[in-house]
Order: sequence, then structure tokens, then C-alpha cells
Amino acid sequence: MDRILIKQGRLVDPANKRDEVCDILICQGKIEKIGTGLSEENAVVIDARGKIVMPGLIDLHVHLREPGFEYKETIETGAKAAAHGGVTTICPMPNTNPAIDSPERVKDLLKRAKAALVHVLPVGAVTVGQQGKELADIRGMKEAGAAALSEDGKSVMDTALYREGLYEAARCNLPVFAHCEEKSLAGDGVMNAGKKAEELGLPGISNAVEDVIAARDIFLSKEAGNRLHLCHCSTSDSAVLVKMAKEQGLMITGEVCPHHFTMSDDEITEDHGRFKMNPPLRSKKDVLALKEALRDGVMDIISTDHAPHGEEEKNQSMRQAPFGIVGIENSFALGYTELVRAGYLSLSGLIEKMSVNPAKVIGIEKGNLAEGKAADVVVADITEEYEINPEEFFSKGKNTPFAGKKVFGRIDVTIVDGKVVYQRE
Ligand code: DOR
Ligand code: ZN
Ligand code: ZN
Repeated sequence: MDRILIKQGRLVDPANKRDEVCDILICQGKIEKIGTGLSEENAVVIDARGKIVMPGLIDLHVHLREPGFEYKETIETGAKAAAHGGVTTICPMPNTNPAIDSPERVKDLLKRAKAALVHVLPVGAVTVGQQGKELADIRGMKEAGAAALSEDGKSVMDTALYREGLYEAARCNLPVFAHCEEKSLAGDGVMNAGKKAEELGLPGISNAVEDVIAARDIFLSKEAGNRLHLCHCSTSDSAVLVKMAKEQGLMITGEVCPHHFTMSDDEITEDHGRFKMNPPLRSKKDVLALKEALRDGVMDIISTDHAPHGEEEKNQSMRQAPFGIVGIENSFALGYTELVRAGYLSLSGLIEKMSVNPAKVIGIEKGNLAEGKAADVVVADITEEYEINPEEFFSKGKNTPFAGKKVFGRIDVTIVDGKVVYQRE
């Protein structure tokens, strides 16, 4: 059956300034018709009364762990998790083993991802093996299908080399996704520097660890003329810097992850790996500044930094556990609960940050439900409260600080290219 009729849902499609109850007919992978009172004999009907219908979400920042760390996640399980979260396109970061640092690796990843439930657009490394010594074949990776460049997991600490990479990225018209972390300042820190870290007797990561590299990268990119996307902004001064860069007309976008606008370090109740990610949960003041920056349009994108790890790895002290939490299966719910219900964003504003704007950053024709466009469509329920339960995750990773948190915004159906890839039972 290649026809689906979504009946009487509230279509929220910011790209076309639409927010109205209507029917959507999907045929052969595309949006065939939008209207009221549509009928189609040969279609599978989805009753969307009381539900919202939106463009599939696009997550620019995930870690799929394949190749090399398949016990944490595979492309298959990560894509299933994405579908469960209403995410129809994902950009996996290159910090796998081997790293995605050459045209061959990009092609291999694309080949492995062919059978995945959602679209997978790889991010290539800036340097060979992410070793920070020698630039990767940036043009070759672009030609092989890389959607962006990133050294995620770390920053390229050799500033001159990085600047060269940014120039090449500009020539190849590839956006650069910047993980901002001054390694020499981060030291052996495991959580936000502050009162809570002192209480727990743990080494801290100060805001400057992020801010100095965010500033460096902005000024380098101003010189090189490339598009720069600041990953997982966690500090109030990141927002100040992105605002300044925008005022100067630079091609910069800012990303915030759900955990950074939902939770502060105050809420860390014990020294446990589920609270450990990089950058760390910051102060209440930072959390508020990030929400305001999302509201004011300073921050453009919500991505997850979905970072699955093995259960035993995360089930230990922050000193030992690896950095990273999963997030792709509850990003919409946290965005809806913490930003829309709390009055920072409209629903359509949230969908802009989770679908329309990410599509623009990597220059793909998605995040748009006009007739004739590819049918990446999501139906969600925003009326019923539920509890986040890691046992329900499709991801191999269950590492989250949000288990048991009550939220609104559950995904009912996810459709990719006109095929149902997830449907809630
Ligand atoms: O928390 C994080 N986890 N931050 C990163 O930068 C890397 C990521 C990972 O790969 O686990
Ligand atoms: Zn990162
Ligand atoms: Zn990451």
C-alpha cells in the first residue's frame, strides 16, 4: 500500500505558515494533496483527530557508534530510536572507529545506512583520524555525500590548522559543526564547575572552557567566510557570542540540546554517570539564558547530541563514566514541555528549531510539507502526560537523567518517504 490518508489532524507546517485542521494524502512517497474532506479508497487511514501533524524532525547531532562501538549503538538501532522520537533525518558525528574522515568512509557509512528506517546524512571529520594533525580530504568527503564537517568529541586545538580547514569548508560550501572545548582548561573536569561540583567533590568544567573556543571559532570563521554551526551551546556567554556574530552578519547558527535547557547542575542528585555529558549541565542562570536565546531567535536549532553508551560504562561515578546521554527519543517531548508549555516558544516555533532550521543549515529540501514534497511526516499527541521510560527506548543506550520525568508530546506515527516507520501501539 503506498497511499496514506492522515485525517483531521492539526497540521503545523511553519515553512508554509500553516496551522490548521486538515487532511493530508500521501502517495508514492510524496505529499499528494492537502485539504479538507479528502477521501481515497485505496489508502491506509490514520485518524489524527486531536493530534498534531508536523514535518519530520531533523537531528543534526547524533552518535551512532557504527563502525567500532556497535555494543553502544548501530546505525539500525539509532535509526529506530530516531523514528520512535519523530526524527526522520539524522546526521551522525564522525567519532567512530575508524573515524569518518575520508570519502571512502563517508561512502561506506552511506552504504551501511541504506536499509536504515530514517535518512542518514554523515558528518565528516575535519582532520585525519580526528587527531588534529592533518586536514582530512574535505572536498572528497563533500563529493562523497557528507552533509557537514565536525571534529565532535573535541575541538581542533591547532588554531592555524583549523583555520585552514574552515577556508576549505568555505570553498566546498560545507557547514562546520563546532564542538567548543579548550582541552587545556577542561583538564579532568567531569561536571560544571560550581557549588554542586564542590559538594560532590568532583573536578569542574568552567564556562570559559566553552566560551573561549566559541569566540575563537566565530572569529576564525569570520576570516574564512565559512558557515559555522556551534554545537551544544551550554553557557549564557555562548548566546552572547552568537548574538554578536549575527549582528555582524556572520553565517552562524547556534544549537541547544534539550538537556541544557531542561536541567541545571542543581538537579544533580548524586555522583552518577547518567548526569555526565560534555558540555555539562550548567547553572540555573545558563539554563534560563539558553531558553531566552531560543525564544529570541539567537539560538536556531535544537539537536540532541544523542550519545549512547553501555549500561555498565554509565553506571558508575562521574569520574569513570564516559561523557554522553541518549536523547533522540524524548527531544520533542522535552522541547514541547519545557519550551512550548512554559511559554518560550510557540509550537510552530519549536518545529522551526527542530525541522525547518536544521534543513536550512545543511541545505536539504526538508522540513516542509507543501504538496509535492517528500512525505517525511510525524503525528504526535500533545494532550496526554506520560513518563519517560528508558525501558521503552529502541536505542541500545538507556543512559538518561530523565527517567521518570513527566512530559507532554508523545510521538504516535512517524512516516519517512511515505512509509510508516514507527507507529505507537
Ligand atoms: O557528551 C558527549 N558525548 N559529548 C561529546 O562531545 C561526545 C559525545 C560522545 O561521543 O559520547
Ligand atoms: Zn560535542
Ligand atoms: Zn556530540
